[in-house]
Amino acid sequence: DPAAQDSLKRAVAKKAVELVKSGMVLGLGTGSTSQFFIEELGILLSQNKLKDVECVATSYQSRVLSRQFGVKTLDLNDVNHIDIAFDGADEVDSSMNLIKGGGAAHTMEKVVDSIAKQCVILVDETKVVKTLGLTFPVPVEVLPFALAPVLRALAALGGQPEIRTALRKDGPVMTDLGNMVVDVRFSEGVKNPAELERKINMIPGVVENGLFINVAHTVLVGTKDGDETSVV
Ligand code: A5P
Repeated sequence: DPAAQDSLKRAVAKKAVELVKSGMVLGLGTGSTSQFFIEELGILLSQNKLKDVECVATSYQSRVLSRQFGVKTLDLNDVNHIDIAFDGADEVDSSMNLIKGGGAAHTMEKVVDSIAKQCVILVDETKVVKTLGLTFPVPVEVLPFALAPVLRALAALGGQPEIRTALRKDGPVMTDLGNMVVDVRFSEGVKNPAELERKINMIPGVVENGLFINVAHTVLVGTKDGDETSVV
């Protein structure tokens, strides 16, 4: 039920925004959960409950939305640190390892999330899994020039790579950075996420993959128990 999932995402966003203090530099993730977060942040800023917050966005989507909600964004090269990065995820396991990139924004997200002093991940309970990659493939951002050899190398790692296409565009999805995305299925899931993250990124022509290992410090999970919504 997408409406119920949205209300959990909203609840998590409201909880997460409580961690923000005036004067902080924040990282803003991408996707529907991050959108709720940006909206909630904008509300606190407009009410003057928060002041002097500066943000680094990880996509055009987050930048445009920030502008819309009165959240100030800066280029990553114009800040010297990030206090907290707030981001969504497609899957989270019990070690707080993640699959991200369902919105093709994982390359900028990984940069921002990794350098942040704290990385807080916002998910609803449907994203929590025992083994990564059983239901969600691993997104890989690829230089268009290197597409064919990268596809062969991903298959050699035991995956089934598929070039991502969009609903309302003919041809491949192009990322905000001008690259393509290959979604790689592993029929038995991702057995060793840390090793797979390294192996994929070793392939020449791969820009970044969506496995986030030891990046998250905190995961806020929105859950529903009967009518009771809570964030744990
Ligand atoms: C963007 O590329 C992803 O990493 C998102 O963080 C992820 O897809 C989560 O999206 P939702 O918050 O829309 O579920």
